[in-house]
Amino acid sequence: MKLSHLRVLHLENPLGIGEAPYFSWMMESEKDNVIQKGYEIKVQEENGSIMWDTGWIASERNSFVTYEGSELKSCRRYLWSVKVKNNYDETASATGWFETAILDSSLWKAQWIEDCLPVKKRKSGFGNQPPATMFRKKFLVDADKTVQSVRGYVTAHGVYDLYLNGIRVGKRKLAPGYASYEKILPYQTYDFTDFILKGKNALGLYVGDGWYFSPETSMNQIATAEVHHGVIFEIHIKYTDGTEDVVCSDENVKTGYGPVISSDMFAGENYDATKECKGWSEYDYEDMSWKNAVLAKSTADNLVPEADDVITAVKTFEAEKVFVTAKGENVIDFGQNMAGIVRVNCKFPKGYKISLTHFEALDEKGNFFNTILSTNGVGAGADQKVEYISSGEECTYEPSFAYFGFRYVLVNIWDANGSELPAENIQAEDFTAVALSTKKQNSGKFVCSDERLNQLYSNIRWSQYSNMISIPTDCPQREKAGWTGDAAIYIETALLNEDVTSLFSRWMKSVALDQQSDGMVPMVVPFNDTYKNMAIMMGQMTKMDGLATSAGWGDVAVKVPWTMYEVTGNRHILKSHYTTMKKWCDYIETQAQKRVREDLPKEKEKYLWNSGFHYGEWLIPSTSTAGFADENAVGNAMAMTALYTAPIYGYYSISTFAKVADVLGETKDFVYYSKLAEKMKDAIQSCLFGPDGEPPAEYMGAYVLLLYFDLVPAKYRKQYETHLIEMIENNGNCLDTGFLATPYLLDTLKKIGRVDKAYELLFQDKSPSWIYEVEHGATTIWETWNAVSKEGIPQHVSMNHYSFGCVASWMFKTIGGVTSLNPGYRHILIRPIFDDRIDWAEREYMSEQGLISCKWKREGKVIKTEVTIPCNAIATVVLPDGSRNEIGSGRYVYNYEG
Ligand code: BGC
Repeated sequence: MKLSHLRVLHLENPLGIGEAPYFSWMMESEKDNVIQKGYEIKVQEENGSIMWDTGWIASERNSFVTYEGSELKSCRRYLWSVKVKNNYDETASATGWFETAILDSSLWKAQWIEDCLPVKKRKSGFGNQPPATMFRKKFLVDADKTVQSVRGYVTAHGVYDLYLNGIRVGKRKLAPGYASYEKILPYQTYDFTDFILKGKNALGLYVGDGWYFSPETSMNQIATAEVHHGVIFEIHIKYTDGTEDVVCSDENVKTGYGPVISSDMFAGENYDATKECKGWSEYDYEDMSWKNAVLAKSTADNLVPEADDVITAVKTFEAEKVFVTAKGENVIDFGQNMAGIVRVNCKFPKGYKISLTHFEALDEKGNFFNTILSTNGVGAGADQKVEYISSGEECTYEPSFAYFGFRYVLVNIWDANGSELPAENIQAEDFTAVALSTKKQNSGKFVCSDERLNQLYSNIRWSQYSNMISIPTDCPQREKAGWTGDAAIYIETALLNEDVTSLFSRWMKSVALDQQSDGMVPMVVPFNDTYKNMAIMMGQMTKMDGLATSAGWGDVAVKVPWTMYEVTGNRHILKSHYTTMKKWCDYIETQAQKRVREDLPKEKEKYLWNSGFHYGEWLIPSTSTAGFADENAVGNAMAMTALYTAPIYGYYSISTFAKVADVLGETKDFVYYSKLAEKMKDAIQSCLFGPDGEPPAEYMGAYVLLLYFDLVPAKYRKQYETHLIEMIENNGNCLDTGFLATPYLLDTLKKIGRVDKAYELLFQDKSPSWIYEVEHGATTIWETWNAVSKEGIPQHVSMNHYSFGCVASWMFKTIGGVTSLNPGYRHILIRPIFDDRIDWAEREYMSEQGLISCKWKREGKVIKTEVTIPCNAIATVVLPDGSRNEIGSGRYVYNYEG
């Protein structure tokens, strides 16, 4: 037996953690039926002193084991080891390390500084921001001593690129990432040891506007002031003799403007290479004309170390095609929609200008089409543009301070006199698209004999890459916003594709901090001014006392931690957000108590969440045929479908929270919220159904949600099941569900014994359907089902929203046949449900215990199924004839002759 995948806070040997760690490991063995009998963990300082020794713990737990040792100190490396014994009495051990950052903000020695260069008020749109600021700090490393290690603790107001002695440190893009900045501003820890020189050194930070200053994300703050870029950093130089030097950001830091004339996360970057300052982050650079930084008012109070969140390139794409459209536009097609940037080999004479406009779709005639249409003010400045002026020197350029959602770029080149050059000047090989995403381990694979399903799965993965840029976002081109409803819908699929534990744990901190004092959880987190204004407006519109949120959106507070627990067994996240969840549930209870329907019995109605603003199901295809353009249709569908989404999602949160309380042994809460959930269920059953059992609004989603959550009174159940099927059939065997019902649609059909209908919807190729998108050229998941018409006419909606990609979870379980029977896939159900349209399928999932795999194939009359179960897990394999096999870890082959 051996141990592998040692992780601390779900990260491999993390540098710069800020909270008590939890530990995970996996066992690998040649033997079958391996179960962990117990473990022993030791944590020690580098000098050997013991911080934590669990002694022998008889336990099967191999993940999320929380540290309970002595208090950890700042800026220290700790070594940890784990020894495990299995049921064969074999032992194995392994070691790892983690390093703490500055654990208490009062320990920061450095101060925030900012430039005092001329700065203009920022406005939305390309070119309307001040230049990016270069900060440079010279420092000395004692040449008479030997350096043991050097660490940098760094962050900025804006986004930064970091240099040491002229070398770019690491591959991290867009640091420090995004969070609810007023409350948590992440900082990063860097290992400078290999970059440092004896004697003279220089640190350089190039800071652009980023999320912090963008008018799209912080309107109120920016509209009123001329704000400067700022940085804070400490460099800790440890020598082998035990001494230490600390270099801090201070007024000796020099600041200057360079080639980036303006930058904005949404609008883009304007770069003038003639303004480059060669060697600016090296010690000997002549900086006489640079201005000293000044101390800034900000404090270190909101600084929080983030060990991961490395936004980096996940894949690069060469230009697939360069062409001139009917309208005469020069377009490059990279063949894949993505979030990212374009890298350009620039070999133009001095003064030549090149402009790139990033976009997602061509119109029906093959011309440039801008999918971004600002309906509600958001996305208005998303020009997605880069301009580059050549210095005449050959170089490779890629923007530092923006990213875009695109598959295509529109290219224009002008000579030094401003005359535009013809298309021949655009060489495909000079352009590379760089897809960005926050770095995570892959945890899932799905492939089958049907190429359309494979393309669908690829589209889902690409929408996931594109929308995990520091936070989970709705779309990479228009809003780049942490819409909570989207994350709530998609979280299960996200976890089953990639190890997003760390990313979602980090984002959940912002969710908790952005929760309002009345318990309201915003519809967007970070809850920046753009969305605060929207919430104020919607609150006023619906005569609420406070800011508006929506059922299905605010429920993220319960849905995300609970799903993380269900998929990975992560109790830690339940504990960390227990109060957030409880406050959210109390908010629902208070909102429900508001009397809005005088015609309903008071004692029942007070348990029905039917007050306030709601998005309803959101984007039901039959009610949004014209996208957002038909506001009346969209508004009406929101109001009508909210009649059931709000009470049902409210019930979901309260009943799920009761389960959380049960898991954590909070008995009083368990009793209270279970009872409350019962009352809510009773209120739904007494008030929502018409005289003949009809739902409050005749939408497919009402049937789906009421059936899925077991809310239909027994006497109406059959009628609901029959009617749901009728609705689908009357709709040409197409779905007609929005954001909040689609995740449950296929599961509901499976639940009522109509998996055949679920398959029919999955394979449907008429719009609205998943395969329609695939057959109409989608390479990511569209925001609306009809984003491109049969005639190829695109709409002004996003082509890259992961929400409807939640169907992947169903594919993994039903086609792939891998389901969890208890939290964290410790007891696995292997049960593919075969369909004649699929000849073979393979599903792999890297669970907390290790790799689970189920591969099946038709061979003549026989279906051969190969199953792999990791150590420390058990499985129930159900064959098509209903026969069951209870198995432990190991590899198994079943030949079923049907
Ligand atoms: C976003 C969503 C979001 C929705 C709220 C849109 O602008 O892109 O995906 O959930 O607004 O209804």
